[in-house]
Formats: sequence, C-alpha cells, structure tokens
Amino acid sequence: MEEGHTAAGIHPSFAKVIEQKKRIKDKLGNIKNKIGVYSAKGGVGKTTVSVNLAFTLAKRGFKVGLLDADIDCPNVTSFLGITEKMDISGFPLKPLVKDGVKVASTAMIVDDMKKPIIWRGPIIAKMLSDFFENTDWGNLDYLIIDLPPGTSDAPLTIMQLLDLKGFILVTTPQRISSVNSLRSGLMAKRLNVSILGVIENMSTGAISGNTKSIIDALGTELLGTIKLDSSFNKYSDNGMITVYNDENIANEFDAISKTIG
Ligand SMILES: Nc1ncnc2c1ncn2[C@@H]1O[C@H](COP(=O)(O)OP(=O)(O)O)[C@@H](O)[C@H]1O
Ligand SMILES: [Mg+2]
Repeated sequence: MEEGHTAAGIHPSFAKVIEQKKRIKDKLGNIKNKIGVYSAKGGVGKTTVSVNLAFTLAKRGFKVGLLDADIDCPNVTSFLGITEKMDISGFPLKPLVKDGVKVASTAMIVDDMKKPIIWRGPIIAKMLSDFFENTDWGNLDYLIIDLPPGTSDAPLTIMQLLDLKGFILVTTPQRISSVNSLRSGLMAKRLNVSILGVIENMSTGAISGNTKSIIDALGTELLGTIKLDSSFNKYSDNGMITVYNDENIANEFDAISKTIG
C-alpha cells in the first residue's frame, strides 16, 4: 500500500470528501430532486429565477425547499421579506417556512446583514457543507439551490458534494451573459453535472442568437424565456413574490416549471 493511503488505495483527503459526500447524501436522502440555478455572471436573474421557480412549484402542490447558496451576498431572504433568524442553538438546523416553502440562508445566521461577509474559499465551502450536513429539510420533492456567480468556491463545492438532478443555466440576451453561461455550462459538464436546460431571462422578444449559440454548444435545450419586466423589481424590493402577484409572469414560470417536473 502506498504511504498515506487507505486500505482501498484512496488518499486520506479524498477519503474524507467521499465520507462527507456519503453523510450529505444520507442527510438529503429524502429530497427527490436537487436543482441548482446557475450562471457564472452576476445580475442575470439567478435569485429571481430560484425564488419564483420555487414558489411556482409549491403552488403546483410540490413540497419545496429553497437554499440560498450565495454565502457572500445572500439575497433570497430580502426578496422574500424574511427578517427572522434561524435558531442555531442546536442541530439540526430548521429552515424557516414562507408560504409553505422551506428556506435556508446565511442571512438567517449572520447578525448584521449590512456588514460585508468576507470569507475565504475554505470557509465558504465549510459553511455550505455544514448547511448540507446539518439542515433538516424533511421530505421534499424539490430543493432549489440559488448559486452565487463565478466558477470556483461555492459552485465547485456544490457540484462536488451534491447529487444534483442538474443545473438550470440562466442567461440574458446579451453576448457577455452567454459567454459566461457557456463557461458555467462547460464547468458543469466537466464535473459530470447534468444541465437541465437554459432560461433566457430579461428577454425582449424572440430568443436571442447568443442564447441559441450556447444551447447548441452545450447540446442542451431552452426551458423557457422570461420577459424584461419592471414588476420583478417592484415586488422583490417589497419582499413580495412576483409569481403570486403578476399573472403574466406566473404563466411564464408555470411553463418553465413544467419542463422540469
Ligand atoms: N426579467 C426581469 N426583468 C426585469 N428585471 C429583472 C428580471 N430578472 C431579474 N431582474 C432584476 O435584476 C436584478 C438582478 O437579479 P438577481 O436575480 O438578483 O440576479 P443574480 O442572482 O443573477 O445576481 C434584480 O434587481 C432583479 O429584480
Ligand atoms: Mg443572486
């Protein structure tokens, strides 16, 4: 046996990750579908899509959880008007419930959300794995995971530790958005995570050539388009769920939700 390796010939650090992955798999064993909402670019609507998709699925009768995996800039609670903190005096952590959807976010743990959260990669990875290992989600049909932008730390941790059904890639008609979405998609492919499809957000008409090109390059499909609409800002600024307040947008999300379940 090579020095430092286990009897199975695995390096201890890999063995640790494999054990952790197994613990997380057991802990999240009652969740049927874990879906990440992702793009390497910020501001394209990942949080908007995560929140509205989660509540659309809940409206359709599914049991849904929503995990804010954007540790630095956790926006989900603000979009939902949640100001309560999670009880962290004992494990397992219990997500807070809003209109039947279970929600967990670092914003429910950090005391002062106005202060920047400045953590290095390993702490972010630890925070995420703690969330996965110690949160009691119960039985869920869907766990929607709102990812931060980028192609390192948090997305990498999630791709490595979770048994995802796949990612939904969010992009906008802009060329720079598709360039970054393609990068996100290629990262997912490299880590053997499925891509469920692409949503073109902030759409201004027919699907853009930029979005078409990444769908072709990734060999995936269009899940739907969401129009550019100031209602999103109006409702989310007031902690209101857009799909519960705007019928046209609700219809767009309803159609998208049916492509995944
Ligand atoms: N379809 C849309 N039309 C208009 N504004 C939108 C749309 N989607 C998202 N927004 C707004 O764009 C901003 C960025 O969205 P957000 O979901 O926070 O992006 P991300 O999570 O990718 O950084 C927010 O102010 C949000 O309300
Ligand atoms: Mg976001």
